[in-house]
Amino acid sequence: MSQILVTGGAGFIGSHTCVELLKYDYEIVVVDNLCNSKSAAIDRIEKISGKKIKFYHADICDYDALNTVFKENDISAVIHFAGLKAVGESVRKPLEYYTNNIYGTLVLLKAMRDNNCKRIVFSSSATVYGMNNEAPYTEDMPTSATNPYGYTKVMIEQILRDCCIADSDMSVVALRYFNPIGAHKSGLIGEDPNGIPNNLVPYIAQVAAGRLEQLSVFGDDYDTPDGTGVRDYIHVVDLASGHVCAIDYAMNHSGFEAVNLGTGNGSSVLEVVAAYEKACGKPINKRIAPRRSGDIATCFADASKAKRLFGWEAKSDITEMCADSWNFTKMNPNGIE
Ligand code: NAD
Ligand code: UD1
Repeated sequence: MSQILVTGGAGFIGSHTCVELLKYDYEIVVVDNLCNSKSAAIDRIEKISGKKIKFYHADICDYDALNTVFKENDISAVIHFAGLKAVGESVRKPLEYYTNNIYGTLVLLKAMRDNNCKRIVFSSSATVYGMNNEAPYTEDMPTSATNPYGYTKVMIEQILRDCCIADSDMSVVALRYFNPIGAHKSGLIGEDPNGIPNNLVPYIAQVAAGRLEQLSVFGDDYDTPDGTGVRDYIHVVDLASGHVCAIDYAMNHSGFEAVNLGTGNGSSVLEVVAAYEKACGKPINKRIAPRRSGDIATCFADASKAKRLFGWEAKSDITEMCADSWNFTKMNPNGIE
């Protein structure tokens, strides 16, 4: 049986997607250099699914290593998560971000071409909608970026479009994720950020766990119902199931499609805090702080294309997402180890 290559499969979204793919009896091969994850995540995927994974500890920038992976397996499609993702860090280290994300993707695409593999699902981001569009975002809106991380997503989408123009058999689905949060119900896998989290829910989780003192709410004077930023939070397991749909779609279609994966609903920072307080049963210590530079007031998806193309829609609400995040945080006080 042919296999799906999952780059970055030990990471947050990759690990949940591996579990989902195994649930549907896909055979998977994971490549990860573990720069932002641990090999224990692979053991946990195997524990949840009761199935074995072929794991290569390798870097996607290493052509020979990738070529070996293709030669040793029968890869019919790739799901490409591997990449660096911290916006602030990308501003400080642009060369590392452009090399890892763009050069890494070029190496992967070359290894795919040399081994006649023509299907890829790519982890894009709602960040490609930039600052100049208005929510709800539809896939036909112009894309732009404000930082190196965002530019890597915009550029990789363009590279993938060009590959489809050059080869009419090529099939690409660029999934534009909104804000993935939550964790698998087992509590065995979840988001395990290095250092102090940049994103809202991992930060709240550490305040709830007593590891951080206080949440700073970045601005309460936005033009939103309660003045705090509104985002489209999506359960990572819903997001993972969207990848299984995208792979099925890519198996039967050619050409380039960009598809939003979001719920279509926005929640404010204060609403997320309230949902988390309910989940963990205690108040979250917080203060109002100045706006974070680069933030927008409101970001949520028009999620209708994923429904039309894949028959997919998100199921979990913010209460369930926070409950699963808290369950993972409680069960893993030192992260995945
Ligand atoms: P993550 O850091 O948990 O997972 C990424 C994985 O890729 C890690 O396991 C890391 O070790 C691996 N990796 C990075 N560079 C590599 C390389 N050169 N070779 C091999 N492995 C490499 O991040 P995540 O949250 O799971 O995100 C996955 C993808 O989704 C990323 O491309 C990210 O930009 C994108 N994305 C994430 C979010 C989010 O909020 N988490 C939102 C939009 C898009
Ligand atoms: C951020 C990135 C975006 C990336 C996404 C997912 C920035 C500017 N944007 O988006 O490119 O695709 O993560 O990884 O970094 N907030 C607080 N206090 C905190 C943290 C966040 O109030 O300590 C607020 C933010 O102002 C925002 C909301 O919570 O209104 C969500 O923030 P975050 O989780 O960082 O996601 P995004 O800003 O949507």
